[in-house]
Amino acid sequence: MEKVVVAIDGPSGTGKSTTAKLLAEKLDYMYIDSGAMYRAVTYDVLSKKINPADTRKIVELARNARIEFRGDEFFLNGKNVTKEIRSIEVTNKVSSVSAIKELRKILVDKQREYAKKFNVVMDGRDIGTVVFPEAKFKFFFTCDLNTRAARRRQDFIDHGMKIPVEKIMLELKKRDEIDTKRKESPLRKAKDAIEVDTTNMIIEEQVNLLLRRVQGLD
Ligand code: DC
Repeated sequence: MEKVVVAIDGPSGTGKSTTAKLLAEKLDYMYIDSGAMYRAVTYDVLSKKINPADTRKIVELARNARIEFRGDEFFLNGKNVTKEIRSIEVTNKVSSVSAIKELRKILVDKQREYAKKFNVVMDGRDIGTVVFPEAKFKFFFTCDLNTRAARRRQDFIDHGMKIPVEKIMLELKKRDEIDTKRKESPLRKAKDAIEVDTTNMIIEEQVNLLLRRVQGLD
């Protein structure tokens, strides 16, 4: 039977991942955090001290990368890198690494493989536009910048890091700029995606809004 894809795109800090994860639990679908895949390759590039301009090497890394989602944990080539891929170093570099065309092709193929076997909720930047243009359900999350920065700050605190909100705001702006202006699969809303502005919403509301749509109740 054809598998169901729920695509959730939008900038970082809009609440995509938390919503996607809870929605997947409720639907008993597999949750795929596509950003984690780009982060994993970036982590590998940094830890192997590969020059970020060395596209050929980066593509080779990605091609051989064994990426696994095991519950809440994320493994790269058998190593648990759940924490490492969220580091500030990775966060600062991931936008430029993920702008590499050949790398995207490899990761997009991997993302499509998951949806051959499982019903999936997948979040990212290009899921509804490029990875699954035919997805049955597409959502595009937005949120005002101050709220996004405050949420990110709290995420960092939860991971034991205290970072000034102004710095976070600058990083978010920089990443938005790269993600929306890049040539390959830029971040944009698919024409048929439902826009969800999460600025004044709590997680439960977001999850319920999506759940009702997927279940055909709204
Ligand atoms: O969602 P995130 O912040 O973990 O994503 C990290 C980076 O990966 C983000 O800056 C852009 C990139 N990304 C992408 O280009 N395409 C995706 N489908 C998911 C993430």
